[in-house]
Amino acid sequence: MPTTERSKLVCNPLVDSLWIGSNLKMALGRGETLRLVQHVAGLDDGAQRALVVSMPFLGESVAAAQGSGLRIGVQGCSTHDRGAYTGEVAAQDVASMGADFVMVGHAERVALGESLESFAHQVQRAREAHLKVLVCVGEEAQGDHDSDDLITQVRLIAGGQFRHGDVLAYEPYWAIGEAGREAPVDYIDARMTRVRSALGEDVTLVYGGSVNEGNCAQIASLDGASGVFVGRAAWSPAKWSGIEARVRGESQ
Ligand code: PGA
Repeated sequence: MPTTERSKLVCNPLVDSLWIGSNLKMALGRGETLRLVQHVAGLDDGAQRALVVSMPFLGESVAAAQGSGLRIGVQGCSTHDRGAYTGEVAAQDVASMGADFVMVGHAERVALGESLESFAHQVQRAREAHLKVLVCVGEEAQGDHDSDDLITQVRLIAGGQFRHGDVLAYEPYWAIGEAGREAPVDYIDARMTRVRSALGEDVTLVYGGSVNEGNCAQIASLDGASGVFVGRAAWSPAKWSGIEARVRGESQ
């Protein structure tokens, strides 16, 4: 990790090392998921790491990550506590399986019709279940909103409150996935800096959206960034390690 970044993080008790995470979406099956979990769980303690797994693999992923620093999360939960809600999954049940956090606000959930209000309820349910949250915010098109809209989203979804272990991911919707376009680094920088200054140094603020081996080191070293949230470019042990080596400055 570059010295400037290390000293920045050492000053911050809630963000004690570089954060690297990946959302596995519905892209990986059981074998591929568990291979990646086992690989990441076996890495040294030079980074904070998180994997957001598909719900059916939660129990086995938690078991495979046991005893390591790897945190396992899920891709959403019900807005309800418990009851007759067919197909929904309660936060308290996710917690009882050993999950560490619930991700809310992802652009792909917005595309499937979920609202900021629904995300806010999911955050509430997650917190009642003593789970951490990974909150995603972003704008629909490049230059569509100014950075203050990101802060409004954060306030609506999470009440602007982040606790130790929570993560905020800035992920422009237009930069995510196969159809996404890589955001210019100065564009990311301007927005991360604004969000960071509004929310303070204690928030673990990461960037996601077409992060890859070519851009990850530069993005992770931005002043406002605590790390990177990677999708498809980290979906195998070799790919994860390639990203991590670059972010940690161990490979060009
Ligand atoms: P991507 O996904 O890196 O494949 O664009 C990022 C995300 O959805 O969090």
